[in-house]
Amino acid sequence: MGLLNEGINEVIATTHQNAAPMGIIRRNEKIRMVLFHGSHTAERIVSGGWVVANFIFDPVLYVTTAFEDLPAEAFVEEDAGEFTVERLCSCEAWVAYKANVERTTRQNLLISLVPLREEIRTIALHPVNRGFNSIIDATVHGTRYKVTRDKGLMDLIEYHAGIIKKCGGTREYEALSLLFDYLDYP
Ligand SMILES: Cc1cc2nc3c(=O)[nH]c(=O)nc-3n(C[C@H](O)[C@H](O)[C@H](O)COP(=O)(O)O)c2cc1C
Repeated sequence: MGLLNEGINEVIATTHQNAAPMGIIRRNEKIRMVLFHGSHTAERIVSGGWVVANFIFDPVLYVTTAFEDLPAEAFVEEDAGEFTVERLCSCEAWVAYKANVERTTRQNLLISLVPLREEIRTIALHPVNRGFNSIIDATVHGTRYKVTRDKGLMDLIEYHAGIIKKCGGTREYEALSLLFDYLDYP
C-alpha cells in the first residue's frame, strides 16, 4: 500500500495540468477516491485514467489549489510505465496511480486506484501543528461554503481560524488570509 496511511490521506492530487486537494482512502487493502461531479480532477481522471498523490506540507498550496489553477511550471512529467503522469515540482513524495471508475452515482464518482510508481524525494519532519491541520479543515469547509454559502460552514471556518491564529506560523497565517480572500470574508 506504499506511502499511504490507513484512513483518508489528504493529498494534493494532480491530473493533466491540474492540482487540487483530494482525499485518498486506504481501507481493507483497497485504495479509492470519492469525487464530486464537476471538478477538473474528476473530468481528467475519467479522460486520462491516472492520478498522482502529491505529499506536500505547505498550507498555502492547499488553499491555492482548492480554489484556482497553478501555472504550467508547477508540474513535472514522470514516467509511470503505462502512463506519463504529472506531479508537483515541489512535492516531498509522490505516488502515481492507474484510476478506474468503479461506480457513478448522482452525487459522485467512486474511483479505484492501482499504484504504478512512487518516489520519496526529501525526508523532512513535520511536527504536528493544529494550525496546519485546521487549515486543511477550514479549506474543506471553504470549498463547500463557496458553493452553498451555508452559515453553519462559516461558523466552522471561524472556529478553525481561531486555532490557526493560536497555533499556526506565518505560512498558516498567510494561508488563512488567502482563504478568507477566496471566500470574500470581510
Ligand atoms: C483537504 C481537502 C480534501 C478534499 N477532498 C475532496 C475529495 O475527496 N473529493 C472531492 O470531490 N473534492 C474534495 N475536495 C474539494 C476539492 O479540492 C475542490 O472542489 C476543488 O475546487 C477541485 O478542484 P479542481 O476543479 O481543480 O479539481 C477537497 C478539498 C480539500 C481542501
